[in-house]
Amino acid sequence: MIDQAKQSVAAANHDHVAVIELIDVHKRFDDLVVLNGVNLTLESGQTTVIIGESGAGKSVLLKHIVRLLKPDSGAIHFRGRRIDQLSERELAAIRPQFGFLFQLSALFDSLTVGQNIAFPIAQHTKRKRREIDKIVAEKLAMVGLDGFEDQWPSELSGGQKKRVALARAIALDPELILYDEPTTGLDPPRADEINELILKLQRELSVTSVVVTHDMASARKVANRIVMLYEGDFIFDGTPESIDQCNDPRVRCFVEGRCSDDMLRTLKEKASS
Ligand SMILES: Nc1ncnc2c1ncn2[C@@H]1O[C@H](COP(=O)(O)OP(=O)(O)O)[C@@H](O)[C@H]1O
Ligand SMILES: [Mg+2]
Repeated sequence: MIDQAKQSVAAANHDHVAVIELIDVHKRFDDLVVLNGVNLTLESGQTTVIIGESGAGKSVLLKHIVRLLKPDSGAIHFRGRRIDQLSERELAAIRPQFGFLFQLSALFDSLTVGQNIAFPIAQHTKRKRREIDKIVAEKLAMVGLDGFEDQWPSELSGGQKKRVALARAIALDPELILYDEPTTGLDPPRADEINELILKLQRELSVTSVVVTHDMASARKVANRIVMLYEGDFIFDGTPESIDQCNDPRVRCFVEGRCSDDMLRTLKEKASS
C-alpha cells in the first residue's frame, strides 16, 4: 500500500527521531482480527491522526502504542527500546512518558478537579503538596481553566471535562500525548477549542501526539500526517493535503462522509421490499 505520499512523508521526516515504532503488530480477540500486521513509526514532535470507521480498531491501536494492550505478535519500541515484552513493574517507569486522554474523559467523580490532576503526580513522584498545587494550577491554566481546582467534575460541561482530563494527561509532562476521539460529543465551537488546545500543546510543549478521530475537520486542522485504518491495516498514510488526491474509494467514502455503495444498495433493497 506504500504510495508516493507515504514516501515523501518518510523522506521529510528523515532527520526526526522515532518516538514509537510498531513493527508488524498483530492483535485478535478470539476470531476477530483487529490489527493485521500494523507498522507505524511516530516521529518526534509530529501529530499523527488515525482515522477509520467505528470498530476499525483505532482505540485498540492507541492502547498498543502505550502498552495498555500487548500484541499477539510483532514488536513495539519506545525511543528505540523494546517495550512489548516488559513486565508491568518495568513499564511503570515508562508510563509517565505517555499522556492518555480517554474517549470518555474518565475523571474520578469523587475527587475535585484539582485532586484529579494531582493524582498521577502524587502517584509517580515524591513532590511536596505545595509543588503539586503549583503544577496543578499551571496545567489548568494551560487548558484555559484557571482557578477550577475546587470544582467537582459533575459541575462541568462536556468540553470542560475533556480539558480537565487533558490537564491530567499532561500533569507529568509526557513526551507523547494520545487523544482518543477528543472532539466526539462536543458541539462545533467546543470541538474547535479542543483542536486549538492540541495545536497549542504541540507548539508549547513540543510533544509528539496521536489523535484518533472520525471528525475530518479536526483531522485536517491538527494533523501533520493522517493514517487510515481499515480491516486491520493502513490503507492511507500521508499528509492532510494528499488525502484529497487519494483515489481509494474506501478513503474517499470516509473523507467525504458518504455511504459506501454496498450500504446504499442494501438501503435501496430494504426500501423497495
Ligand atoms: N478487550 C476487548 N475484548 C474483545 N474485543 C474487543 C476488545 N477491545 C476491542 N474489541 C473489539 O475490537 C474491535 C475494534 O475496537 P476499537 O479499537 O474499540 O474500535 P474503534 O476503531 O471504534 O476505536 C471492535 O470490534 C471491538 O468490539
Ligand atoms: Mg474507539
